[in-house]
Amino acid sequence: MRVIALANQKGGCGKTTTATNLAATLSSMGKKVLLIDNDPQGHATLAFGFRERDFTLSTYDLYLTSDILIEDAFLDISSNLHLVPAGIELSAVEQTLARESEKEYRLRNNLRRSAMPYDYVLIDCPPSVSILTFNALLASSEILIPVDPSYYSLQAVKKMRETLSVLREKKGHDIIPHVLMSDFDTRPRFVRKLMAELDDLYEGELLDTVIHHTVRFKEAAGMGVPIIQHDPNSRGAHDFRGLARELSEQEVQVSVAALDHWVALLHGPQVSQAGVVFEADFPRAKTVRITGSFCSWSAKGLPLKCREDGIWECHLALEEGDHEYRFIVDGSWLPDPHNTETTANEFGGANSLVVVP
Ligand SMILES: Nc1ncnc2c1ncn2[C@@H]1O[C@H](COP(=O)(O)OP(=O)(O)O)[C@@H](O)[C@H]1O
Ligand SMILES: [Mg+2]
Repeated sequence: MRVIALANQKGGCGKTTTATNLAATLSSMGKKVLLIDNDPQGHATLAFGFRERDFTLSTYDLYLTSDILIEDAFLDISSNLHLVPAGIELSAVEQTLARESEKEYRLRNNLRRSAMPYDYVLIDCPPSVSILTFNALLASSEILIPVDPSYYSLQAVKKMRETLSVLREKKGHDIIPHVLMSDFDTRPRFVRKLMAELDDLYEGELLDTVIHHTVRFKEAAGMGVPIIQHDPNSRGAHDFRGLARELSEQEVQVSVAALDHWVALLHGPQVSQAGVVFEADFPRAKTVRITGSFCSWSAKGLPLKCREDGIWECHLALEEGDHEYRFIVDGSWLPDPHNTETTANEFGGANSLVVVP
């Protein structure tokens, strides 16, 4: 599951447009997506045509109590796309939680309690660095920062990256940043100059996809539908298909980048004369099994047990040689997140590899 915050303290740079249209496009490609409206303005909720009278539970409830889960609060937009809506009550969070401990981890803890098998969770943030934005960032492994073509926006990205450094230093929380050019009319000379500047400043973080300026976005939002539905052949719809593709192509890379802190925690399979010990941290899983070349890739696999510390574990007596394997986590086949040794498989993904000498 990739949790991505849409954040930038500058207003009107395309956070909500990106959150809603990316959510709709990823879900149309078969990904299971949750969109959390984390802005009291509730624009992401409006963008899907919902009004405050259409829901009783909202993002506010996720902050207030641990009794309400994502699965209680979401609205169905389609079978693959869920939305936790927000309204003006969300602006009370700052005051309501003022004296509470761990108040910046409310959203993260709630997401961890959820058993929903999402591929992507997108969190649309307000234009401020507030408790709402901190909650979103601490729940996320990635941040998508939309920038519109203005120098204020550049300034805001710089601020956002300072915030990320503070989170890394003070909370030990690492977030992979992506910078997205949004609402760009690429013709004027100053815009092209700005694009070159962004490329210099944020090489490696700047996404290749550009979301171009088109009036279709405003039309679609006004009708309460995403652009891929309003005008599937428009440039805007094309741009969002490109963005969804670009992000999905990073899936393997991102899971490897997220490895660093896991590797410190665990070390992939441990080989000894007694056999191989597999350990894995899947905090939301109900069942974890392992399958691989050693059991002819049995669809059922072999079970791992959940230890008291929450880590899943199993011991296997494997013969000498190379063994490819994957974990089956609540039915999804995943490479071992703690093992950097992988080999490409025939499906375009990666299998984890353990070598018994
Ligand atoms: N690519 C675009 N082309 C045209 N209008 C856009 C585009 N992106 C955003 N807008 C418009 O700009 C305004 C602000 O965008 P929004 O996504 O709500 O920003 P934020 O959530 O960062 O405040 C909205 O009216 C939106 O329809
Ligand atoms: Mg917004």
